[in-house]
Amino acid sequence: MEKIALIGSGLIGTGWGIVFSESGRNPVLYDTDINALDKALMEIEKGLNDLNEYGLIDESPETILSRVSKSTNLEEVLDGATHVQESIPERAELKKDLFEKLDKIVPQEVTIASSTSTIPVSAFTEHLPGRERCIVIHPGTPPHLLRLVEIVPSPWTSSNVVMKSKELMEDCRQATSVLKKEIQGFVLNRIQYAVISEVYRLWEDEVAGIEDIEKTVREALGLRWSFMGAMETISLNAPGGVPDYNNRYGQWVNEINTSQNARQWSEESVNRLEIERLKSRPSVNNSTRRNWRDKRLMALLAHKRDRSKIEGD
Ligand SMILES: NC(=O)c1ccc[n+]([C@@H]2O[C@H](COP(=O)([O-])OP(=O)(O)OC[C@H]3O[C@@H](n4cnc5c(N)ncnc54)[C@H](O)[C@@H]3O)[C@@H](O)[C@H]2O)c1
Repeated sequence: MEKIALIGSGLIGTGWGIVFSESGRNPVLYDTDINALDKALMEIEKGLNDLNEYGLIDESPETILSRVSKSTNLEEVLDGATHVQESIPERAELKKDLFEKLDKIVPQEVTIASSTSTIPVSAFTEHLPGRERCIVIHPGTPPHLLRLVEIVPSPWTSSNVVMKSKELMEDCRQATSVLKKEIQGFVLNRIQYAVISEVYRLWEDEVAGIEDIEKTVREALGLRWSFMGAMETISLNAPGGVPDYNNRYGQWVNEINTSQNARQWSEESVNRLEIERLKSRPSVNNSTRRNWRDKRLMALLAHKRDRSKIEGD
């Protein structure tokens, strides 16, 4: 039995519960809010049933679920854990307090990883005696369906901890991207923020309505990006690959890049954008829509798995 301590059982802690239990490990969920723990267990059960429906798990949902437990006693959760995964809200001061506590309790050989999506781990571990075992393991949302994690060491994280984190994640069927150095937002969110910033700019400048812009992401860019990287995508748009693409289109890439200046989002505009966006979306609540998203992702994962067997990656 390999016990994994999950600290924070919201959206991401719940997804980690599925990832670790599905890989044969025993995740124990901890949260300061007892209701969050009950909700997490229900969501894990539901997520496992859905994965089963799409043929994406090898054991029965009941068997996998029997490996998951919860507790409101931090010491009990940490006792005997071989890996600690923190998923509390994205606030550096909260993470700093928690890591201080964890560093005192958790034996030195155990990795303490943060799920933070933007904050380098050095921002809240510099002062810790055990700082070399602290690292970022940033999952996608939800972690059991977007199966790539970003592993981001601080300047003082030991190379052994990087290696152990990579091995653990690969054993949990997560693709890994190991960053060479820290940067705010890592790779995934920096790319995502570049795209959403441009969506906002095009909409605010009244170049197109939000539905037409979203449609462009959904029906065109996203379709290719679901199985090819951005550079591979452009390499196929010019006979001589990326250098040829640069010869043909590089001037336009640079000119357009220069016009994409940083812009602050205004509350008023964001509210207006949301009203316009919701006019073209089905009138369901966020959690129903999240379930719909997860099922679409599961169908896509099953398709990608089956096609990879036939056509390779
Ligand atoms: N939501 C995303 O899309 C996403 C994706 C990847 C990573 N992340 C990162 O994961 C982390 C968690 O995000 P989330 O979306 O799950 O947030 P969330 O608000 O859904 O869940 C956070 C949970 O932490 C609990 N909590 C607060 N303080 C705590 C403490 N001191 N000890 C234990 N539990 C505590 C809360 O009660 C809550 O249940 C954040 O750092 C976030 O940046 C989020």
